[in-house]
Amino acid sequence: MKNPQKIAEPKGKLGVLLVGMGAVSTTTIAGVMAVRKGLAKPIGSLTQMGTVRLGKRTDGRSPLIKEFVPLAALDDVVFGGWDIFADNSYEAAKTAGVLESSLLDQIRPELEAVKPMSAVFDRRYVKRLDGPNVKKGKNKKDLAEQVRVDIQRFKQDNGVERLVMIWCGSTEIYLTESAAHASVEAFEKALEANDESIPSSMIYAYAAIKEGIPYANAAPNLSADVPALLQLASDAGAPVAGKDLKTGQTWLKTVVAPGLKARLLGVEGWYSTNILGNRDGEVLDDPESFKTKEESKKSVLDYILQPNLYPDLYDKLCHVVRINYYPPRGDNKEGWDNIDIFGWLGYPMQLKVNFLCRDSILAAPIVLDVALFLDLAKRAGMSGIQEWLSFYFKSPMHAPGLYPEHDLFIQLMKLKNTLRYLRGEELITHLGREYYD
Ligand SMILES: NC(=O)c1ccc[n+]([C@@H]2O[C@H](COP(=O)([O-])OP(=O)(O)OC[C@H]3O[C@@H](n4cnc5c(N)ncnc54)[C@H](O)[C@@H]3O)[C@@H](O)[C@H]2O)c1
Repeated sequence: MKNPQKIAEPKGKLGVLLVGMGAVSTTTIAGVMAVRKGLAKPIGSLTQMGTVRLGKRTDGRSPLIKEFVPLAALDDVVFGGWDIFADNSYEAAKTAGVLESSLLDQIRPELEAVKPMSAVFDRRYVKRLDGPNVKKGKNKKDLAEQVRVDIQRFKQDNGVERLVMIWCGSTEIYLTESAAHASVEAFEKALEANDESIPSSMIYAYAAIKEGIPYANAAPNLSADVPALLQLASDAGAPVAGKDLKTGQTWLKTVVAPGLKARLLGVEGWYSTNILGNRDGEVLDDPESFKTKEESKKSVLDYILQPNLYPDLYDKLCHVVRINYYPPRGDNKEGWDNIDIFGWLGYPMQLKVNFLCRDSILAAPIVLDVALFLDLAKRAGMSGIQEWLSFYFKSPMHAPGLYPEHDLFIQLMKLKNTLRYLRGEELITHLGREYYD
């Protein structure tokens, strides 16, 4: 045993504030409520069902993660959030159409009690949406201050000890880092000046981080991933994580691609296409929002396959990603991958993947895990980018000068080793020499 890190106990309630209370958020909220009542199991959640091996293989120690590190209990989680539509979570879950009415009706009063606060929203950044539940303010700084007041009021009204904020709002248009994002001073001036380079998601991120609250981004937009907000996060002691939940097709990509590379099989082309019919699909039908998603989805293969190290295998890779909005499918996305690979002496082969998935069913356990792990990080005194949570994201945030790690299995090892480190347990290297010496 090394020295365990000091971690404050999760005393009292944890407020989980979700920005955007659509399909992903309501599936998370309803899921936690259903699990609490014993109506269903938290399948897909590492914090609720995962274990972590400790010590040697022969020791036989594999506790549940939630018993190994002090996580907030589901009974202590209180949900809140913001949306441009005023529907409560029961109505919003009905609109999202992910969960059956037979389940929603059993938790109806609890869901109806979760009502969105009025949102910071600007159509410039999400072209396909508009709604009535929107704040007015004299400038973006004023809007950020209003969100901070919302946070403080939520904390008081609900008697919560700690808070976490997760952006589960729509994907905003593609933006790149600019001068306004370079420092906290520049950012705050830009807020006052209503600078166009500050979209709504950055206003929420600023408000949360300024309050010292952990912030995660479930979508691909830039949000907290700019120097100004990272500096603020380190000053305010706020852990941050993102971007873009790794749920369906990209999750599978980060499973299959490391396998191909491990066997040194070449990849000539990877064509990915999707159909989906939820509101997310409708927003992504706008080319400017799709561009944000496309960038997030496409970077994965380059980093995993490392064409710079293996030019003969991956240099000519043609990677195409398409998302098609097709309303009849609702949240039940269908993804197809055609992978043109080649083996010994260059002989070609093909791999076809057809994934009939449910977007929000895959996303909800990730939102829960990220909320609970960020709260753990905060209590352990960690701030800034939490790279050990890369496991959950398509475009993992990372320190400047580092390349992001996308391989799902390396990411999982990193996550579990971080938990071992926090508890003062030996890290597991899988060397295993001692069994044979
Ligand atoms: N598997 C997945 O479902 C998955 C995976 C990765 C990323 N995401 C991302 O997560 C986000 C949520 O997905 P979803 O399926 O729940 O979408 P959704 O359209 O059902 O919900 C998004 C909600 O955000 C609200 N919203 C938009 N802008 C807002 C603002 N400025 N303030 C407050 N609310 C705002 C919308 O009104 C809507 O209710 C999307 O950006 C999506 O790309 C989802």
